[in-house]
Amino acid sequence: MLLEIPDVLTRDEVRAARLQLEAATWIDGRATAGHLAIGAKRNLQLATDDALAVRLGDGILERLGKRAEFIAAALPLKVLPPFFNRYEGGGEYGFHIDNAIRTIAGTPHRVRTDVSSTLFLSDPDEYDGGELVIEDTYGTQRVKLRAGQLVLYPGTSLHKVTPVTRGTRYAAFFWTQSLVRDATRRALLLQLDTAIRELTVAAAGEAAIDRLTGVYHNLLRQWSDT
Ligand code: NI
Repeated sequence: MLLEIPDVLTRDEVRAARLQLEAATWIDGRATAGHLAIGAKRNLQLATDDALAVRLGDGILERLGKRAEFIAAALPLKVLPPFFNRYEGGGEYGFHIDNAIRTIAGTPHRVRTDVSSTLFLSDPDEYDGGELVIEDTYGTQRVKLRAGQLVLYPGTSLHKVTPVTRGTRYAAFFWTQSLVRDATRRALLLQLDTAIRELTVAAAGEAAIDRLTGVYHNLLRQWSDT
């Protein structure tokens, strides 16, 4: 299941981030590719210890920590610091599945990559190609969002970024270890949570809402690991 989260960053925040990213020091993206993915990857990235990446990444995670849609969909336990990438001049990333386990750079901490998120930092009209193509349970999805918008999808998905044939595509991406490892269970919990929220508006005060909320928490108790 894919979920789009609008306006993670405002237009002003995107503009400020972009000015800094355009002046940043970029390195070959293969530095962080997994063994299997390395042959398919042609892009640039910021180093994981780059001060700009750390600062911008912290700001993005702080913002998402306040977004109910992100919390409800990802059910985050641990989040890896965001990476930043740049595609241009035909750069692409062929079909691959991300490594299951990532170590947080400079620490012994490991994160299971249950949920992938991409935050677009270029507008669609700034570049040609550069679509994020995701093989979902419901077929192939092609994603190209406005700058400041985020897409979240299961880490188990096969995915690629198509060649950028004009302009430059900037994005941030990161992985989340979820309280609920299984994508199908996460999707069910999100559907239940969404329905309860709708009922809270449409049928405020109904005792059945409290019972459904209890069911939600009992399912989460069954399915979560911490
Ligand atoms: Ni990937």
